[in-house]
Amino acid sequence: MATSGPSEARTFRPAFRTGERFSRDAKDRPLIVFESVHKSYATGMRVLRGVDLSIGRGEFIFVTGPSGAGKSTMLRTIYGAEGIDEGRITFLGRDVGTVTKQAMPYLRRNVGIVFQDFKLVPTWTIFENIAIALEVAGYAARIIRSRVADALERVGLVGRGDERITVLSGGEKQRVAIARAIVNDPALVLADEPTGNLDPQLAVDILGLFEDMHRAGTTVLFATHDRSLLEVSPHRTLVLDDGRIHDIGAGAVIRASHPIEVPVR
Ligand SMILES: Nc1ncnc2c1ncn2[C@@H]1O[C@H](COP(=O)(O)OP(=O)(O)O)[C@@H](O)[C@H]1O
Ligand SMILES: [Mg+2]
Repeated sequence: MATSGPSEARTFRPAFRTGERFSRDAKDRPLIVFESVHKSYATGMRVLRGVDLSIGRGEFIFVTGPSGAGKSTMLRTIYGAEGIDEGRITFLGRDVGTVTKQAMPYLRRNVGIVFQDFKLVPTWTIFENIAIALEVAGYAARIIRSRVADALERVGLVGRGDERITVLSGGEKQRVAIARAIVNDPALVLADEPTGNLDPQLAVDILGLFEDMHRAGTTVLFATHDRSLLEVSPHRTLVLDDGRIHDIGAGAVIRASHPIEVPVR
């Protein structure tokens, strides 16, 4: 049977052709830093207006605010999918704005992303949808099989790799998307309204999977405008409002006897 510990898997990691390595070793530094970040769209929409923020390694953070507040935009700036106009974003010790186009895929390998609409390939199997994240990174087939099996176990889909996406429920699809996001053991997992298409009980179950990742040491940024989820767990919560971030700490939503600046769905 194929067995692969993390160190063995690491030796299969392809060389960084560009010579740019995104070290995960600097444990004392924050994982993500925003310094005076401004971001507008060409439409004139000013989404981020001087955002300062520091996110430590291993944190679980809720990002909330009404629809259109800029939650998705903020997440996308971290992995360079959206450029910024002013300021600086540092991720894994690197200024994201100076990462070359050639090096960007290596930065993104450190990020697992989960979306509201799953973004799975419906005609592929569960296995194929998860394995793709490792295939593009050049892992050997034996390693891929073993790591996909591990990821399926972590999301509660043991032994179901051969099933097609089309026959799955919404909750199962989101579990597959989560397995794909974590199969590469990324430093950071970004969840952009991952429960938006799920009913309330499933949403709580899915939140639990992200909390499992957090307990295993992964940094999680979970964007949601669902106040009931914020009430489930007392994690540090950032409220995006009018281009600014208000850090209301952990548990503020639960303690508030009246609706604070957190939007109610
Ligand atoms: N690619 C884009 N081009 C222009 N405007 C955009 C684009 N993406 C988002 N926006 C606008 O920026 C604002 C923030 O959007 P978004 O980050 O998606 O907010 P949220 O995720 O909180 O709903 C909204 O007004 C939205 O219409
Ligand atoms: Mg959004």
